[in-house]
Amino acid sequence: MSDLQDYFSRCAAVTEKWLDERLKSGSSFSDGLTQAMRYSVFAGGKRLRPALMFASFEIFSDDFLAAVPYAASIEVLHTYSLIHDDLPAMDDDDLRRGRPTNHKVFGEAEAILAGDALLTKAFEFASDRDNTPGVTDAVRVKAVHALALAAGDRGMVAGQFADIKAESSGADCETVDFIHLNKTAALIRYSVSMGAILAGRGYEDERRLDAFGKNLGVAFQITDDILDLTSDTATLGKNAGSDLENGKATYPAVYGMEKSAEKAAELVKEAVELIRPYGGKGGRLAEIAYFITERKS
Ligand code: IPE
Ligand code: IPE
Ligand code: MG
Ligand code: MG
Ligand code: MG
Repeated sequence: MSDLQDYFSRCAAVTEKWLDERLKSGSSFSDGLTQAMRYSVFAGGKRLRPALMFASFEIFSDDFLAAVPYAASIEVLHTYSLIHDDLPAMDDDDLRRGRPTNHKVFGEAEAILAGDALLTKAFEFASDRDNTPGVTDAVRVKAVHALALAAGDRGMVAGQFADIKAESSGADCETVDFIHLNKTAALIRYSVSMGAILAGRGYEDERRLDAFGKNLGVAFQITDDILDLTSDTATLGKNAGSDLENGKATYPAVYGMEKSAEKAAELVKEAVELIRPYGGKGGRLAEIAYFITERKS
């Protein structure tokens, strides 16, 4: 196992253990809801956002474990976004993380509710004082506010809305840039910025990491668009060719394949330059940045 793979495994293991202990049924009347939530959360996934958060926090702190509740929080929020993204009213996909999509297994209403519950859970986790004893109230409120901005109508949901609206309408550069910045980069920016927020660093570190996350987020979605066209369903664990079928506004559709790959590589290179002031401490984050465009799934 490479060192980076090992890091991803460690991030995934602590995050999943923490979640496993907390995603429990509240009542026999809602056992099925918990089951649906757990089904998608524990279906695997790269756990990229937790890894980014840990790597960013570790620039400033040796206390890896202090970030776990926030890493878990962003992962359940991300999982909600995937469950809703796959719904018949959205991308209408039937495979995710190598398994049938949530609505295929539990039904559409149940999948909508499982997503709603995971979104809410994210804020429960991030705001709970008992979960985060080492964090001041000021930092906790700031983190929750940043999460709300990243997830809602100024972030991920806005991007998802524009993505749906742009289907089959022959999108232009401006549209696809808005979509990528919001549907994907917003949560990635949040994950990276959280390293500085949690460590109580000032504006300068937050801004630098936010800029890094912005580049990475767009590069990540460009690569996702490329893989949709070049990879296969078994490798991706989700339906290859889904974008084409839905007439999606993707980077390759607007810029062509070659320019898209160039743009993603350029964004990653720029991102790595941005964190150069951290020297060796930013090494892990830089490694993850290169992984974004090199990954196969
Ligand atoms: C998929 O995200 C949705 C996008 C933003 C492209 P990931 O590729 O991180 O999905 P998982 O978490 O590994 O399943
Ligand atoms: C989804 O983008 C981004 C989300 C907010 C979930 P995609 O629709 O391209 O993600 P995949 O390819 O289905 O994972
Ligand atoms: Mg989508
Ligand atoms: Mg999709
Ligand atoms: Mg995609």
